[in-house]
Amino acid sequence: MIKLSKSVQNLKGQPMFQILAKAQELERQGRKLIHFELGEPDFNTSLPIKIQTISSILKNDTKYTSSSGLHDLKAAACAITLKSRGFEPDINQVLVTPGANIQIYLALSCLCNPGDEVLIFAPYFPSYVSQCVALGIKPIIVETHKCFNFNPLQSDFESKITKKTKAVIINSPCNPTGYILNKFEYTNLYNILNKYNIAIISDEVYARLTFGDSKFFSPSSFDSCKEKVIVVNGFSKSYAMTGWRLGVCTGPQKMIEKMTLLQETILSCVPPFIQRAGIEALKYRNESMINEFAYRSVLATDLLNKTVGCWRGDISCLYPDGGLYCWFDVSKTTNLTSQQFCDEALDLGVVLTPGTVFGVENYVRLCFANSRENIVKGIKLLERI
Ligand SMILES: Cc1ncc(COP(=O)(O)O)c(C=O)c1O
Repeated sequence: MIKLSKSVQNLKGQPMFQILAKAQELERQGRKLIHFELGEPDFNTSLPIKIQTISSILKNDTKYTSSSGLHDLKAAACAITLKSRGFEPDINQVLVTPGANIQIYLALSCLCNPGDEVLIFAPYFPSYVSQCVALGIKPIIVETHKCFNFNPLQSDFESKITKKTKAVIINSPCNPTGYILNKFEYTNLYNILNKYNIAIISDEVYARLTFGDSKFFSPSSFDSCKEKVIVVNGFSKSYAMTGWRLGVCTGPQKMIEKMTLLQETILSCVPPFIQRAGIEALKYRNESMINEFAYRSVLATDLLNKTVGCWRGDISCLYPDGGLYCWFDVSKTTNLTSQQFCDEALDLGVVLTPGTVFGVENYVRLCFANSRENIVKGIKLLERI
């Protein structure tokens, strides 16, 4: 038998996909389930995007492209960055990739050697840790606190920095907490990171999905992505394009050059007709989908706080500023671990993701990318736990 590497033996992947596979197996056996596990908009990709793609295929736009992406898509992304983040990157600072996830891998590969350390706030999107493990990088987990709106204590954060720290990965709006880091919070962090010359990988895939008065802030506005900020972004969430696999990364030119070379080495380029779909998508803001998610975020949070309950005036679930998730504490009113809570929920026909997947016990994540009717029905079922 061949022997596999240590890094793949410790690989955990994205456990939400494994939960989905288990749920689908139960469905094949005849179970009826309400899905709240995978972070995927329940909206269809809009028609103009599909038409553009089909027409592009019919025009034989089906060959390799430059490995950094089509000029027109990169130019459109630069123009959007000017509107949304207040600076226009040089076109050489932009790389088109198949989805956002791989941008983290490419960025980590270009920044770190095996044995280096990367700071990750918990709860975290599980890919961050899995990718570090795959690359032989040490993920250093920084605890955050609900009472500080899921920010770390500054002293905690600084005490984790060593000579080996090469980057921090920050995700705002955050999967799973839904919290947005504001300008003040980012300024404090940025000053520390500047002192130690640490890169910021800023995962902004939910930047367009913000609710109410919540204001998205990107740390890229500190350095225009010229020094130490790498913006990870993609079309999956904002444009309901999860299966298309398309993303755009912005960073310092030298870093983007190396990321491009690495992408060229392992996957050549993104299909041209998919990139054309991206150019079309960037012409619109999916206002009705965003409004619907805003509505559901309040609906689900209110219901969870009624159902899972409040504890000494502390509500189980804070209202998310953005994203697709409610992140709620089950420990105070149920005395269950997050896995036990999710197991009991599954017995009742509700699929959730335990907090341990995101590196934190006591919490559970509910993705509200499901109909209002299913949100009401599903959360009502949780009353029985
Ligand atoms: C925080 C975060 N970053 C990145 C991704 C990956 O997105 P993509 O589908 O663009 O690879 C996800 C997907 O769930 C996510 O939640």
